[in-house]
Amino acid sequence: MNACCALAVLWLAHFCHGTMSCPALCTCFPQKAEVVCNGVPLTEFPSGGLPENTTMLTIQFTNITSISEQHLNAVPLLQELHLSSNHLHSLSSHLLRGVPHLHTLDLTENKLSHLPVDVFNHAPLRSLVLKDNLIDNADARWVPENSSLNWLDLSENRLTKIPAGFFLNMPHLENLDLSNNHLEKICNSSLNLLTKLQKLDLNNNKLDTLDESIFQNTHNLTHLFLAQNKLHTLPKDLFQKLPQLRILTLENNQLSHIPPGLLDKLHSLDEQGIDLASNPWLCNRKLEYLWSWLQKNKEKVYQPQSITCSTQLLGGRSVMSLTESELNTDSL
Ligand SMILES: *[C@@H]1O[C@H](CO)[C@@H](O)[C@H](O)[C@H]1NC(C)=O
Ligand SMILES: *[C@@H]1O[C@H](CO)[C@@H](O)[C@H](O)[C@H]1NC(C)=O
Ligand SMILES: *[C@@H]1O[C@H](CO)[C@@H](O)[C@H](O)[C@H]1NC(C)=O
Ligand SMILES: *[C@@H]1O[C@H](CO)[C@@H](O)[C@H](O)[C@H]1NC(C)=O
Ligand SMILES: *[C@@H]1O[C@H](CO)[C@@H](O)[C@H](O)[C@H]1NC(C)=O
Repeated sequence: MNACCALAVLWLAHFCHGTMSCPALCTCFPQKAEVVCNGVPLTEFPSGGLPENTTMLTIQFTNITSISEQHLNAVPLLQELHLSSNHLHSLSSHLLRGVPHLHTLDLTENKLSHLPVDVFNHAPLRSLVLKDNLIDNADARWVPENSSLNWLDLSENRLTKIPAGFFLNMPHLENLDLSNNHLEKICNSSLNLLTKLQKLDLNNNKLDTLDESIFQNTHNLTHLFLAQNKLHTLPKDLFQKLPQLRILTLENNQLSHIPPGLLDKLHSLDEQGIDLASNPWLCNRKLEYLWSWLQKNKEKVYQPQSITCSTQLLGGRSVMSLTESELNTDSL
């Protein structure tokens, strides 16, 4: 046997090994230790043939309905698991016990409703996306004590409330998305531990009021989304402790006026950083604070002309365009 032959045998062995260690219907990228099963007719987790050194696994747009601790035992070095747009309807307890390096888990657009209490324990998750599922109940015990989560997305679910202690185990959260749920209330002190929080999205819920102490410890908040709720009053000190806030959305609520001083401490608002449109502003003396704030801060307001009066007398008029005497008529 000459050298050439030996090389061919080696090559063949390598080639065979390579093809054997990739699940049917999936594509493997050995150099990156990555496996992708995208839009293929899988109905079960592709355990067979998963390379043991896989660090990133993507199974998207398939028909798999479940995933278990046993399945994940095949990929002990996994760091990222992307499972969006499948048919997962439940997750097992201790799901992540065999993947101690997993930091990113994306479960967007599945059919998850109830999750067992210890479901995300064991792995050092930093990013957890549960967007667009059927979850109606959140539990603090989903994650371990002092978890390293800094990104949590629970948007587009069916949450009506967040339990008071839900964030107790998530002191490192920086980005929290709770938009597009049915939240009626955020408990008073529930955000108190979230001193690192930078973005909070509560758009499109059913909040009608917020306690004035709710943002007292979230000093690093830069983005706060409160649009499309039912907010009708805001406590005067609500934004006092948010000196870094750059973006604030309050459009599409039920605000008829805001208390004097409410916006005074928002020194970092971006240009066009605040949106106050589509509220039933009552254009009388009580609106004087907003009126004069708008005069001084026009450039920080998104479409200032679309902040309009809802009263019959001045209905449709832009608040900014009112004269002082019009504001003082006290017609309503
Ligand atoms: C993963 O293992 C395969 C062989 O099983 C090897 O070819 C590949 O180089 C390894 N990838 C990494 C990133 O270590
Ligand atoms: C999933 O199942 C449905 C119904 O059986 C089928 O129409 C669809 O093509 C399957 N999806 C994939 C990606 O195979
Ligand atoms: C919490 O985790 C951080 C690192 O993520 C660590 O530095 C700190 O010591 C932990 N605290 C406790 C009480 O375990
Ligand atoms: C919220 O907490 C404050 C103290 O920080 C307390 O005075 C107030 O009654 C609480 N509100 C509710 C609704 O629990
Ligand atoms: C808040 O942000 C500043 C500047 O980005 C950073 O230095 C500081 O550590 C942050 N505070 C917390 C509690 O994360």
